[in-house]
Amino acid sequence: MDRCNRLVDVGRRQFLRGGAFAAAGVATAVALPAQAETKAAPGLALVEYPSNKLANIADLKPNEPFDVGYPDENAPGVLLKLGMKVEGGAGPDGDIVGFSTICPHKGFPLNYNADDHSFNCPGHYSRFDADAGGQQIWGQSTANLPQYALRIDDKGDIYAEGLDELLYGRLSNVL
Ligand code: FES
Repeated sequence: MDRCNRLVDVGRRQFLRGGAFAAAGVATAVALPAQAETKAAPGLALVEYPSNKLANIADLKPNEPFDVGYPDENAPGVLLKLGMKVEGGAGPDGDIVGFSTICPHKGFPLNYNADDHSFNCPGHYSRFDADAGGQQIWGQSTANLPQYALRIDDKGDIYAEGLDELLYGRLSNVL
């Protein structure tokens, strides 16, 4: 019993010593000179996006994917004129959208189904809804499909100026 009490006492002292070190650490951090302070680095995905002209409204046919690359040629995607106002839709009818066509799960190329406005993955069967901002509606992916932020000027030129999700396989959408 006496041995047991001694062990408890040793444990208590070690605990208190640890607390003292922690307190000393806090005091040191508080005493750092002002010039040692740094701003938190922005997350890698927070980047300036290029404003790229992808097409003109006249290039789009209703509900037919128009192949593009954004933010660079290594990031395939499509523009779509869906024929009805949708989430994230641009243009006079709010029906023009753009999406990456690389599956956010493991990077398979997606196929567009014009019947239900969905993107479908042959890899593990994830499905994404073009009418709902690329929301995942089925399958293995844990992310939605990256959608372009589009701007259309008065000549009908369509510009992509950002993405709302991280592209598959990248630490940052713009390398
Ligand atoms: Fe598309 Fe796995 S790569 S669901």
